[in-house]
Amino acid sequence: MMQILRTVAELRTRVRGWKEDGRQVGVVPTMGALHDGHLSLVRAAKRGCDRVIVTIFVNPKQFNNPADLEKYPRTEAADAALLAAEGVDILFAPGPDEVYPPGFATSVTVSGISDPLEGAMRPGHFEGVATVVAKLFGMTQANRAYFGQKDWQQLQVVKRMVADLNIPVEVVGAETVREGDGLAMSSRNVRLDALSRAQAPGLYRVMSKVAAAIRNGGDVAAALDQGRADLVQAGFAEVEYLDLRSAALLEPMTTLDQPARLLAAAWIGGVRLIDNIPV
Ligand code: PAF
Repeated sequence: MMQILRTVAELRTRVRGWKEDGRQVGVVPTMGALHDGHLSLVRAAKRGCDRVIVTIFVNPKQFNNPADLEKYPRTEAADAALLAAEGVDILFAPGPDEVYPPGFATSVTVSGISDPLEGAMRPGHFEGVATVVAKLFGMTQANRAYFGQKDWQQLQVVKRMVADLNIPVEVVGAETVREGDGLAMSSRNVRLDALSRAQAPGLYRVMSKVAAAIRNGGDVAAALDQGRADLVQAGFAEVEYLDLRSAALLEPMTTLDQPARLLAAAWIGGVRLIDNIPV
């Protein structure tokens, strides 16, 4: 039976019992509004660990836009039903005061890798992510933590933080889960109206074309320019970035001379979509 816990004290008590029994504990940190992408992380955690905790916390510190925080879908009852069906042991869903009690004063900054792309577009975002993820690791004491590759930069930030702070957790990145038409699953997809939903797969389609052009030896800058134009043509109102970066450090690349990632953020129908693929 899955338990829903809201306090760190209760969570710690349960986890202590598991650890005393020598169990490996996995955590899947989420902000809820769960979809098949999250469930694939839960399944990976179930395969890799003896006990699985899923956390749901819409972390105010990582939203630089109050309207985005306000509009973020909150569907805890439905989420809990999905997680119970997957055999999750604990759903940890604390309130904001449990996570950030009065007097809370610490934040975690991962410099360098947090700065470009999402970091440039959403100031303070990765500080909020790193801070809450460090706290969730401390709260859950998990041995392994599962994150989606959809948020590629977030995954690299978390890996850097874990290495730098010697946090005893193994970070596992799982492949992006896509709808049949290629659209990467995201909790924000529910906000797309019918037309935008029909056009949204253009992001992955264009990115795949750009990646193929670069892989085939095409000029990187020219392929990216063409991609940006193709996105506008496909119905995207604004392309915040479409960039080729080194896979781990996210440094800009002008030629394909090391493992690379193509990353994009673009707006359609008032919704901001992000995606990334290997090149
Ligand atoms: O990817 C997310 O849903 C969030 O950024 C995370 C990792 C749960 C931290 O709030």
